[in-house]
Amino acid sequence: MTLPAAMTAIRAERGPDGTRLVPENIPVPQPGPGQILFKVASAGVNRADLLQVEGHHPPPPGAPATPGLEASGTVVAVGPGVNGWSVGDAICALLPGGGYAEYAIATEPCVLPVPKSVSLVDAGGLPEVYFTVWSNVFDTAGLKSGESFLVHGGSSGIGTAAIQLMHARGHKVFTTAGSAEKCAACVALGATRAIDYRTEDFVAVVKAETGGKGVDVILDMVGGDYVMRNLQSLARGGRLTNIAYQKGAKAEVDFRIVQARLLTLGATGLRGRPDSEKGPIRDALAKEVWPLFDAGSLKPVTYRVFPLAEAGAAHRLMKESSHIGKILLAP
Ligand SMILES: NC(=O)c1ccc[n+]([C@@H]2O[C@H](COP(=O)([O-])OP(=O)(O)OC[C@H]3O[C@@H](n4cnc5c(N)ncnc54)[C@H](OP(=O)(O)O)[C@@H]3O)[C@@H](O)[C@H]2O)c1
Repeated sequence: MTLPAAMTAIRAERGPDGTRLVPENIPVPQPGPGQILFKVASAGVNRADLLQVEGHHPPPPGAPATPGLEASGTVVAVGPGVNGWSVGDAICALLPGGGYAEYAIATEPCVLPVPKSVSLVDAGGLPEVYFTVWSNVFDTAGLKSGESFLVHGGSSGIGTAAIQLMHARGHKVFTTAGSAEKCAACVALGATRAIDYRTEDFVAVVKAETGGKGVDVILDMVGGDYVMRNLQSLARGGRLTNIAYQKGAKAEVDFRIVQARLLTLGATGLRGRPDSEKGPIRDALAKEVWPLFDAGSLKPVTYRVFPLAEAGAAHRLMKESSHIGKILLAP
C-alpha cells in the first residue's frame, strides 16, 4: 500500500484571544521498532487534551505535539519487531499523543483489537477510559468481589465506563452527576443509585443506602472538598483513588478518620507511565473486559462525533460539560 507523505493533524494556536485548534499539514509518521502506524477512524477527546492545548499538560518526552490520547483505526504499516498485528487489522490504542490526525503511531503494548460488537469509530473512545478505570479500581484500589463502589462524575467518559464495568462484574454502584437527566442515564447504564450532587449530599445518601457502613472503593475525579467527604463515605478498610482534581489538588485531610477506619488513599496518572506498566493493563483488559462487549454487558457510550477539523467545537462541548459519555473526532 502506498501511503501519502503528508496528512492533516490538529495544532493548538495560542493567541491573545485564546486558543484555536487549527488543521495543519504535517508528514505522516513512520513506525519504528515495536510501533504500529494506523489510519485513524476516530480519536477520543479527553479532558486532559483541554489542559494540553492551554499549555498545562505538556506531552511526555518523545510524544507527538499533536493532541489525542486514544484512537481507533486500521493498521497500514508495522515497524520491526511487531508480531501481533498486521496491515488491515482493526485496532484501538492508548497513545502518548498524536490521535487528532489522519494517521497515528501506537506502540504494541498499548493496542487492543476492536471488539466485534463495536464499530470502528466508537472504538476510538474505549482505550483511555478502560485503561484508567481498570488500573485505578483493580490495581490501585483492589476492588474485590462483592464490594461496593462509588464513581464521581458518572456521566463522564470515565464514569460511563466505570458504571457499566462494575455493574457487569456484580458490584453495587453509586455515582454522582450534575443533573436529573445525567443521573437517569447513569441508572440506565447500571448504577444502583445516582446522586444529583447539585441537590443531594452524597455522603448522606451513601450512608443511608449502605446502612451506615459506607462504600468499599471510590474513584474520584473531583478532589478539593470531595477528598474529606470521600473519606467520610468509605467503609472500614475502604480505598480512595483519585485521577483528577477539578475542584483543586490541595485539600485539608483529618487523618484521624484514615487511621481509625483503616482507609487507604491513592492517586495515579496514566500518560507518563512507561509501556512496561501499560502492557499489563492492556493484557487485563483483553482478558477481563473486552469479552464483555461481545457478551452484551458493555457498550460504547458515544455522545457525538465531530469532523477532525471541528476539534475546537468538540473541546467547547466538553468544557460546557453537557455531554454524557464520549466525544469523538473523525478524520
Ligand atoms: N489520572 C488519569 O490517568 C486520568 C485518565 C483519564 C481521565 N482523567 C480525568 O478524569 C476526569 C474525567 O475524564 P473524562 O475525559 O471522562 O472527562 P469528562 O467527560 O469531561 O468528565 C468530567 C466530569 O466531571 C464531573 N464533575 C465536575 N464537577 C463535579 C462534582 N463537583 N461532582 C461530581 N462530578 C463532577 C462532570 O459532571 P457534571 O458536568 O455533571 O458536573 C463530568 O461528568 C477528567 O478530570 C480527566 O482529566 C484522569
